[in-house]
Amino acid sequence: MKLLTLVLIPGLLALEGIAPARPTLPERTALQSTASLDSARTSRISVTLPADDAVLVVNGETIRGDGASRTVETVPPNAGAYRYTLTVTWEPNTYTKMTRTKTIELRAGETVSVDLAVDDPTDRVRVIYHPTPADVAEAMVTLAAVGPDDVVYEPGCGDARITTAAIRAGARRGICIDIDPDQAFESKTNVELAGLADRIDVREGDALDVKDLSDVSVVFLYMGDHFNMLVRPVLWRELKVGSRIVSHRFTMGDWTPDRTVAVSSDQGGIFELHLWTITEEIKQKLASR
Ligand SMILES: C[S@@+](CC[C@H](N)C(=O)[O-])C[C@H]1O[C@@H](n2cnc3c(N)ncnc32)[C@H](O)[C@@H]1O
Repeated sequence: MKLLTLVLIPGLLALEGIAPARPTLPERTALQSTASLDSARTSRISVTLPADDAVLVVNGETIRGDGASRTVETVPPNAGAYRYTLTVTWEPNTYTKMTRTKTIELRAGETVSVDLAVDDPTDRVRVIYHPTPADVAEAMVTLAAVGPDDVVYEPGCGDARITTAAIRAGARRGICIDIDPDQAFESKTNVELAGLADRIDVREGDALDVKDLSDVSVVFLYMGDHFNMLVRPVLWRELKVGSRIVSHRFTMGDWTPDRTVAVSSDQGGIFELHLWTITEEIKQKLASR
């Protein structure tokens, strides 16, 4: 195991102190060498990271270093437990940025191990913008068998092309959300230009914050495996029986699609689309977890 010792700024760590008696906050001090730390009171956070080049931030401070195993040392300024928030960001592929956060409590002299390499339901994902070709977007709408009772939802809508195609194909209403302000603006503009502003609600924000899908009956995805796995429990819990999910390219772990089709685009290339339908069995499986 590669062990890298880093030293954190005690004053900074005290900012989120949770000692019963409120700790006085020492002035922020310069980085110290390990040798200068009071060894009896030195606390260690032994961190396992999801990638060698992951960026680790503790209580807002970027910790320099590399390797998947790192040790952060600090001397809590007072007795009592202190709260440390560890955030790791990494890019598992060229289009995805992941963020994972964990908060721990630590007292002077303690050593705590934190495994940040394990998937967590609170993980955050951001994928880059890359549009589905227009004719493939239409094929997604066809695969979902969109009808007049459907409310369609597109997390990470880009320019809203799939939702717009779904409304044109007869869906009742659409909800689009994009984390990128430029894409949310482009979606809004396109929806207005298409004269569909009264039927498509465009929002800016993180789709992983959207927990209420009670009105939704069709979900369109082109978001990558990591996002799909994080949104999967929300889909299982929130969507009614009979709701459909169509994903361009990316699957959902061990949830096998009901259908997978390959579509060729006028723009060139073959595109895989996957369809899942929410069943009573899926709902029960979730309830038993
Ligand atoms: C691969 S593009 C797909 C765009 C569109 N759905 C399509 O198929 O043409 C992914 C989009 O999702 C947005 N996005 C990425 N992470 C997001 C998140 N956590 N919440 C909401 N939108 C996100 C990006 O800004 C980008 O516009």
